[in-house]
Amino acid sequence: MPAMKALILSGGTGTRLRPLTYTSAKQLLPVANRPIVAYAIESLVSCGLTDIGIVVGDTADEVRTALGDGSQFHCRFTYIHQEKPLGLAHAVKTAQPFLGDAPFCMFLGDNLLRHGVGDLVERFRDNAPEAAILLAEVPNPGQFGVAVVERGQVVRLVEKPRDPISPYALVGAYCFTSAIHPIINALSPSWRNEYEITDAIQGLIDNGRRVDASFVDGWWKDTGRPDDLLDANRLVLEELQSRVAGSADAASVVTGRVELGDGAVVTDSVIRGPVSIADNARISHSYIGPYTSIGPDAVLDHVEIENSVVMAEATIANLSRRIADSLIGRQAHIHGEDRRPSTFRVVLGDRSEVHWVP
Ligand code: G1P
Repeated sequence: MPAMKALILSGGTGTRLRPLTYTSAKQLLPVANRPIVAYAIESLVSCGLTDIGIVVGDTADEVRTALGDGSQFHCRFTYIHQEKPLGLAHAVKTAQPFLGDAPFCMFLGDNLLRHGVGDLVERFRDNAPEAAILLAEVPNPGQFGVAVVERGQVVRLVEKPRDPISPYALVGAYCFTSAIHPIINALSPSWRNEYEITDAIQGLIDNGRRVDASFVDGWWKDTGRPDDLLDANRLVLEELQSRVAGSADAASVVTGRVELGDGAVVTDSVIRGPVSIADNARISHSYIGPYTSIGPDAVLDHVEIENSVVMAEATIANLSRRIADSLIGRQAHIHGEDRRPSTFRVVLGDRSEVHWVP
């Protein structure tokens, strides 16, 4: 059998993450200062899957520029262009020339799995089913593909079920043999006009093929919405290792686990980890509270902030109130002024959100 390959899906429009996704591919949004998709790539590479196809759509140029040819991750990328986001099965179909007859692991580039796909891939290799999927119990199965499992075998799957036939959602990581391709080639689009991988897996079962299921060990996050991004940031920072490359002056107090990137400068500030501060960020006269990531070249002066993500080159200064639970995009500016009348003055991009708690 040919060597196993991997497929990362990095297309899609990220509508639920607007306005951040007007200017960034959702898979490149930062979680603890690394693009979400980097976690998927590293997990695949650590399973020995180094021949990786990346399916890209409208944001292809940006994804290519950020990820390169794979050498920074010790693997090789083949970019595969999906003309339209017509579903996960359509993405696999588009990737068929790359995949050939090889078995493969598919990972959705906006999903984060604490323990990665190591167990899934190992079980697929050991038990040799036609497909192996990962499941997690969720309170809102109607928003996912779900599976009914009997004695470790999947017997039925439904995408976004109206009736709660199962509380077990398909997590965005799957392993397949080439038996999936003829089924995908014969698939009809679903009610939402997408070619669903869930329907293709059901097709394997209908053809008497074996589909194994296992349950996610540790947390899993589909980073579809802004709150998911904050959750993911918190979960990843929970396991942050301290690393201090930049500098903090004697007037600053740095406690807990803190990552301070190259060239980052902290002056007269309190940093209470877990906190990730990226390269060349500058923090002065500020408080950076737990579960906060500050992006590269961001500048914060006289600011208090916690449980938030500040992206590259944002500048925040002179705020009289603490920022909490916020996502602040690249090159965003938030500046307070100490003068009367006390007003709000904003320039907000389309679909931005401001919540004020007086
Ligand atoms: C997709 C799949 C769904 C799966 C989910 C995991 O949903 O269609 O089966 O449960 O990813 O993140 P979508 O992101 O298209 O809503």
